[in-house]
Amino acid sequence: MSKPLHWVHISDTHILPGWRDFTWRELLWFKRWVATAYLLVLRRRRFRYARPRLAAFAEWLRANPPDVLVHTGDFSGLGMRRELARAVELFAPLAAAAGLVRVTPGNHDLYLPEAGPFGATFAAAFAPWLGPAPEQDPADISWPRVDLLEPNLALIMLNSARPNPPFWRSSGGIPAPALAALAERLARPDMRGRLLVLATHFPLPDRRNRRDWHALDDAAALRAILRPYGPGLLLHGHDHRCGRCALPDLSWPVFCAGSLTYAGRSGFWSFRWDGQQATAARGHWAPERGFYLEPPEAVFS
Ligand SMILES: [Fe+2]
Ligand SMILES: [Fe+2]
Repeated sequence: MSKPLHWVHISDTHILPGWRDFTWRELLWFKRWVATAYLLVLRRRRFRYARPRLAAFAEWLRANPPDVLVHTGDFSGLGMRRELARAVELFAPLAAAAGLVRVTPGNHDLYLPEAGPFGATFAAAFAPWLGPAPEQDPADISWPRVDLLEPNLALIMLNSARPNPPFWRSSGGIPAPALAALAERLARPDMRGRLLVLATHFPLPDRRNRRDWHALDDAAALRAILRPYGPGLLLHGHDHRCGRCALPDLSWPVFCAGSLTYAGRSGFWSFRWDGQQATAARGHWAPERGFYLEPPEAVFS
């Protein structure tokens, strides 16, 4: 039997910006004023331990080095250029502890149109960890990014975040060319016989109601593309609660990493795949223990 592949999934590390991260040009957006007020009132408390928690997790990773570290976005709070640079700095020690690192942006990282329609600012900052771009990319979308790993696994990183200028909206979307590129990639012969692991920022249920401005607009389209394929599993963030769920119309088990740094709710997942069986262990942080894992459970029963 081949050596199992071990990967760790984290998300929504949401570092808090310092005052020096703000520039006047970036403050011209009304949404950033609203978000800064929200940051001062609520968000600052929730993510007050983000930096020490990241440092502690880097230490945990050094003691438990994974083959792959996956981050499903929301590195930042307001998606500013200096803030993203700081997020890279703080993420680098975690990345150094893993064999391979793959990231995808969250809605906070592509906060406003200045990020570029498909996240050029994010892509420039996180370039070493984006993975191989699609060979055919006439629309210059850059996603999905696929790594074929042993034993028999395909890791598919897909961007589902987009700039959202209205201050009340934090929804996601996947451009049609990226969905078409994903469908084309999944149909290729080199994907057959592999465990498919798709990681993206947004969860895949449909909007709960018309006023749900926090959901992925293209969730149904993405589920329809994935449905003929498998076995597969979905990894996402955005919801700041770590957990596992099932979707009624897709057989792929779903794992939400929650947030690694949210005060009182730090979570993450650790997976192993030996080519036949996959296990998942949920990770927590506690003041008396630091980061730790629950006993592993089977991903497919
Ligand atoms: Fe988030
Ligand atoms: Fe998010």
